[in-house]
Amino acid sequence: MSDITSLIDKLNISHALSFNEWVRVIRDADDNDRAYAAELARGIALDRFGNGILLRGLVEFSNVCRNDCLYCGIRRSNKCLSRYTLTDEEIVASYDAAYDAGIMTCVLQSGEGAVTAERLAGIVRDIKRRHPDCAVTLSVGELSSEEYRLLRDAGADRYLLRHETADAEHYARLHPAGMCLGSRIDCLHELRRLGFWIGAGMMVGSPYQTTEHLARDMMFLCELSPEMVGIGPFIPHRDTPFADMPCGSFDMTLHLLSLIRIMLPGVLLPATTALGTMRPYGREQGILSGANVIMPDVSPHRVRERYALYDGKLSTRGDPSAAVRELTERLDRIGYVPALGRC
Ligand code: 5AD
Repeated sequence: MSDITSLIDKLNISHALSFNEWVRVIRDADDNDRAYAAELARGIALDRFGNGILLRGLVEFSNVCRNDCLYCGIRRSNKCLSRYTLTDEEIVASYDAAYDAGIMTCVLQSGEGAVTAERLAGIVRDIKRRHPDCAVTLSVGELSSEEYRLLRDAGADRYLLRHETADAEHYARLHPAGMCLGSRIDCLHELRRLGFWIGAGMMVGSPYQTTEHLARDMMFLCELSPEMVGIGPFIPHRDTPFADMPCGSFDMTLHLLSLIRIMLPGVLLPATTALGTMRPYGREQGILSGANVIMPDVSPHRVRERYALYDGKLSTRGDPSAAVRELTERLDRIGYVPALGRC
C-alpha cells in the first residue's frame, strides 16, 4: 500500500486531511492511487444513491452579464457575443418540457444581473405553482441579502455559486478589480442562513492555479460542507484574456471528484458539461469517479450556442425527452440509470 493510498484511507475514515496531506494526495497520486480513489468513491456513491444518477434540467436563460471574469466567455467585455434573455414564458416552458421528461429539478442559470430579482422571483413562483413537487435551483451570481431573501420567499430551494478558488490572491488574478473572494464567501454564508441548499466549487487547472490552491479549495469545501459541489476543468474561450492559456487536466478533475466524494460522502456532485466537453465519455468517467448528478441543457435550441462560457461547449440536440433518452442509453452502458424522484 502506497503512502498516498493510506492518505486516501485516512480521508475515508476522518473526512479531513491537513493542508500538507492534501497537497500530497493531489500532487503525488499516480495512476494506481487515482484508480484506488475512484473505486472507493464509486462505491460510496453506490452505497448512498444506488445506481441512479440525478438529472437537473439546466435552463441557461440569459447570457447577459455585468461581471468581467477573465476566464468566462460571457464576460461583459466580450463584444463578439450576441446577447439574449429568454422571456418569462420561454423559461417556464423550457422547464415544463424537462419536467414532462421526468426531470424533477430545474437549474435556472444566467450571467449576473441579467434580470432583476423581482422578475426572477416571479418566474420561480410560476414554476413552483405549476410543479409543486420540483426543486428550483438558482445560479445567478452575487446578489444582495434582500434579493436572496426575495428569491427564497418565492420558493427557490437551492443556489449554486462556485467559489472558483479559495485563495484570495489567485481569485484576484481571475477576476477584475472590485470582485473579491470575501464577498463570494459572504454570499454563500448568507444563502445558507436563508435556508438554501448551497453549492460551491472550483475550476480545475484555471490559469496560475497551483497544487497548494487546490489543497486550499479542498479544505474550504471541507469546512463549508455544502450540499452540492460543482467542479470542472478550465477550458479557454477565444474572446477572453485567457484565450491562449492551456486547458485544465481532465484526469486531475476526475481525481478531485473522487476525493470530494470520499470527503463529503452525501454531497450532490455533478459530472459537469465541461468534463463532457473535454472527452466524448467525460461525464461517464466522472460518474465512475464518484459523481452522481448530470445536468442536461434544456434551454431552447436557438440560444444554446450563445451561452458560451468556453470554446466547444458540449451541446446536445433535441428536446429534453430526447436528452433523457440519450442519457439513459449512455448511463446504461456503464451500469447506471437516471434516478426518478427529486433529491
Ligand atoms: N472554463 C471552465 N469553466 C468555466 N466557467 C466559466 N468560464 C469557464 C471556463 N472558461 C464556470 C465557472 C462558473 C460556471 C458557471 O462556469 O466556474 O462558476
